[in-house]
Amino acid sequence: MSAAFLLAVIGHPVAHSRSPAIHAAFARALGHAVAYERLDAPPGQFAAVLAAFAARGARGCNVTVPYKFDAHAAAARHTPRAVLAGAANTLRFDAAGWLADNTDGAGLVHDLGVHAGWPLAGQRLLLLGAGGAAAGVLGALVAARPAAIQVVNRTVAKAQLLCQRHADHAAAHGVALAAAPLAELGGGFGGIVNATASSLQGAELALPAGLLATGGWAVDLMYGAAAAPFLAWARAQGGQARDGLGMLVAQAAESYALWLGQRPDTAPVLRALRAEVDAA
Ligand code: ATR
Repeated sequence: MSAAFLLAVIGHPVAHSRSPAIHAAFARALGHAVAYERLDAPPGQFAAVLAAFAARGARGCNVTVPYKFDAHAAAARHTPRAVLAGAANTLRFDAAGWLADNTDGAGLVHDLGVHAGWPLAGQRLLLLGAGGAAAGVLGALVAARPAAIQVVNRTVAKAQLLCQRHADHAAAHGVALAAAPLAELGGGFGGIVNATASSLQGAELALPAGLLATGGWAVDLMYGAAAAPFLAWARAQGGQARDGLGMLVAQAAESYALWLGQRPDTAPVLRALRAEVDAA
């Protein structure tokens, strides 16, 4: 094999990140030599850590919480989906200028459509949250052509801004996109995406019964204990529930393809990771 491609995930904290294991599995499957590091950037240190890493001849990096907005700002060029998200989870260190991408939404849509086989086209969807995570996935959800997407957020103005930024994209795909207060939603959504950080903070969402259509699906972008309250709620509503592990693997595959030009097969990596997480 030739010299290793140098990659990393930069965030704070990153000790828990499963990205190194996921990318190592992709590299093994494709016969690439890849060295993928975890780089913890303490507050105020993101730009310095990023520059030092790029200077080592790195091909690119993933960027995670809390630096996805900084990553977007650090790049000279942006993919259309990064522009729409206003945040980046992937950087490629091109000589012509660093390229920022956001693979989270493509990862989610791949997980729902391919791993889970759940329908998106023609559905009425509900997106909970309007922060960085929600911004990262809304563009791809729109491009999957559901009939409608309602965005609900504790801070209503943020949901309205997010919808405004995606208004042209939604119109181009024939999707009715709107921000709405939780109290005015009605119910019967075919799919619900939880992109809030509320479970993480221990404050469970106060969601009314009837929000999810019978047999509808629900996905939390988190996994493990952080996702558990929302998934339990969805199952109690008679829905199918899924955590964010499949999205994590699929967004990683999209990043890998941006760096190395080949998209790894996600299903076997997800199966192995699921077994590991379930056993933990
Ligand atoms: P992330 O990058 O994980 O999206 P973020 O940008 O801070 O983080 O956004 C967090 C999201 O979770 C926001 O939609 C936030 O609502 P606000 O915009 O009103 O802050 C939402 N959130 C966090 N804690 C919440 C809670 N206890 N109840 C409801 N929503 C919550």
